[in-house]
Amino acid sequence: MNDQREIFKTEGDNYFCRNKETLEKAQNNDVVEYLKWSGLKVGRILDVGCCFGHVLHLIKSTFPDTELFGFDPSWEAIGYGKKMYPDLHLRQGFAHDLSHYEDGSFDLVVISFVLSWIDRALLLKTVAEIDRVLKNNGHLIIRDFAPSGPCKVEYHHLPGQGVYTFKHNYWQIFSSTQLYTIIYEHEFLHAPGDELKNENVCKFVVLQKRPELNYSINKKEL
Ligand SMILES: C[S@@+](CC[C@H](N)C(=O)[O-])C[C@H]1O[C@@H](n2cnc3c(N)ncnc32)[C@H](O)[C@@H]1O
Repeated sequence: MNDQREIFKTEGDNYFCRNKETLEKAQNNDVVEYLKWSGLKVGRILDVGCCFGHVLHLIKSTFPDTELFGFDPSWEAIGYGKKMYPDLHLRQGFAHDLSHYEDGSFDLVVISFVLSWIDRALLLKTVAEIDRVLKNNGHLIIRDFAPSGPCKVEYHHLPGQGVYTFKHNYWQIFSSTQLYTIIYEHEFLHAPGDELKNENVCKFVVLQKRPELNYSINKKEL
């Protein structure tokens, strides 16, 4: 298997260069919409795979009291974001190593179209890191592809190189532990105008980490 981490050291830069203008122009985002609609109180937010911090910037504009942190392998994206949005705390790095952040230090972790890029050998390490940095009763927002079963598609920007996008119901990894509860979800198409078919369907899912609340108390002696 290719180590996708090595590939995305540069592919993260390429993604940033290809999409910077469009992402910068966006006036809205469904994470912001969800926070407005739900009234969820979130002080410290981490966006894993934040590119240059465009989503965090929109959150900051709407909720100025939040403290916002972002993490991405692309040095170019992080460098640009630091210049553009000095009020954000942005760092270069990979999602499977969030050791810069303390246990339980975030009210909300956002991971949007990043898990599908991560090397399969590092997926569970990434899941464990997200779980570690999220507070008990904190929230996790996952935006990603929502296939009927796991599938991989060749990454079309690097054809013939054995690089894939892995489509998988990532929120089920968290909810199947029964330590997380899905509290909201909606489906959407990856790009406006996409054909309504399995590989284009995506989901926005909000989970709450409930390691104590999800256990009922058995009053009988075992
Ligand atoms: C499709 S973009 C999504 C950007 C942003 N989250 C959004 O929704 O607009 C994928 C991002 O994930 C980053 N990425 C790729 N591999 C990663 C990894 N192992 N850990 C963290 N971020 C990664 C890329 O650099 C890129 O910025």
